Amino acid sequence: MSWLRRYRIAIGAVLIVCAGVLVVLLMRNGDTSADMVADDTAKAADKAQLDPKAIERGRAVAVAADCAACHTRPGGGRAYAGGYTLQTPFGDILSSNITPDRATGIGDWTERDFFRAVRHGRSPRHMLYPAMPYPSYVRISDADMHDMWSYFRSLPAASGDTGGTRLGFPFNVRELMLGWNLLFFRNDAPARAGEVNRGQYLVDVLGHCGACHTAKNALGGDSGYLGGGTLQDWHAPALHNGMQHGLGSWSDADIVAYLKTGSNAHSIAAGPMAEAVEHSTQYMPDADLRAMAAYLKKLPGPAETKPQPVAANDPAMVRGARVYVTACSGCHAPGGTGIAGMATRLADNPAIRAPDTASLTHVLMTGSRAAATDANPTAAGMPGFAWKLSDADAAAVLTYVRNTWGNAAPAVSAGDVAKARRALKARKPM
Ligand code: HEC
Ligand code: HEC
Ligand code: HEC
Repeated sequence: MSWLRRYRIAIGAVLIVCAGVLVVLLMRNGDTSADMVADDTAKAADKAQLDPKAIERGRAVAVAADCAACHTRPGGGRAYAGGYTLQTPFGDILSSNITPDRATGIGDWTERDFFRAVRHGRSPRHMLYPAMPYPSYVRISDADMHDMWSYFRSLPAASGDTGGTRLGFPFNVRELMLGWNLLFFRNDAPARAGEVNRGQYLVDVLGHCGACHTAKNALGGDSGYLGGGTLQDWHAPALHNGMQHGLGSWSDADIVAYLKTGSNAHSIAAGPMAEAVEHSTQYMPDADLRAMAAYLKKLPGPAETKPQPVAANDPAMVRGARVYVTACSGCHAPGGTGIAGMATRLADNPAIRAPDTASLTHVLMTGSRAAATDANPTAAGMPGFAWKLSDADAAAVLTYVRNTWGNAAPAVSAGDVAKARRALKARKPM
């Protein structure tokens, strides 16, 4: 971690502490009166007559909200029993068991406990870190919350983790989240009817797309709505309608196809987005996917001027072109057009021009597997090139693809690749 980042985090921490203290002094308890609609008598583990229709609706809400992505340990963890590690700039945060197990899960909770935890980040155990996306979930409707409660009660109890997160000081003081909430937590804007509003509800609230696609400031608060964000060594590109960065060249149908199948004529989802498609969006009803597309296509993009591409006779471009022909063109095609559904189109692709190259260096170093979906069951794979390409070759080939076939973006430096190689613990070239 650079000294500058440490410095910023330290100042941030002091600010949060002050804000936290202020809030405690003011004795504000982050109004949770909205949760009075929740029942406070029955516990999750109590045998109950649950309405099968409510369970089914609740399952769909949990899928759209992708609760499983974070609450199920990858590689065979029991469903919703927790133990998934989220890397944040403040340290690793473990997700908790949300099955109705009395000891380690939510078995002893009432519906009101559940509402307060999911919508306000206040678990009976402690204040939650916003790695749990309650800042988005705060606007989940009462009806959807009731249904989800029925669904989680109906699950088999599984013993798991209560979330053994140990962050360093000051972030281990969970009461600081009071300060964080004061700064960044917004509890407003009721849901409205209509397709675009339904789309906004799905994008902002259940889908919590901004958790990845909106950049975070030094304190982990939002900055630049859906303008692109970086997390866990991946970059989630802008989702507004910018032409240089953003979905300006995508149609509604392109967005629907990407969310349903994991790929379209423009791109193939990799990394955390492949997971989101696999666990969540592929199972959402088409009407909901269309509503999200309709909403996203309404977001104006910023006025951007296309930069000049790096000149084709620049030494890095010449070197990159050579690497491309031998190592990449077999799959991505000589003209960068890729193979639909099999290898990402690199030509005129906003994600390839992204200001942050985390996803590009990530995929190039470690390789990647696309989403396996019901619609596209054989997930395409990109092999990792860490063993084969030096930092300079990897930087050159990325500079080349970012500045050829209609793309124009700043060059990637060998230093950027070296940094990614270290962070990803990828191997050194032979
Ligand atoms: C992006 C990852 C992520 C998603 C998505 C997510 N959670 Fe969480 N959740 C977490 C993490 C991490 C924690 C533990 C936070 C902490 O320790 O402060 C947590 C904690 C919780 C808790 C508190 C458990 C306890 O014992 O205190 C509940 C309840 C919960 N989540 C329910 C849900 C539900 C319901 C959904 C879907 C609507 C969901 N979560 C989606 C990451 C996530
Ligand atoms: C866990 C983090 C995460 C969440 C949550 C998430 N995304 Fe993504 N998304 C990413 C990443 C990372 C990429 C880049 C994938 C790649 O490089 O192939 C991406 C890519 C995309 C793209 C392709 C953009 C392009 O220019 O290629 C679209 C469209 C998209 N996401 C839509 C959504 C929507 C809609 C939601 C909410 C329903 C969502 N994402 C939620 C991380 C996320
Ligand atoms: C064996 C076929 C294959 C080869 C060879 C290959 N790729 Fe890929 N590439 C893929 C596939 C498949 C994907 C989609 C991966 C995914 O979505 O997880 C991809 C994705 C990408 C992406 C998009 C990453 C993102 O964020 O979505 C870039 C950039 C890329 N490749 C660059 C290269 C470069 C540069 C080379 C040569 C050094 C190369 N590829 C060689 C198959 C290949």
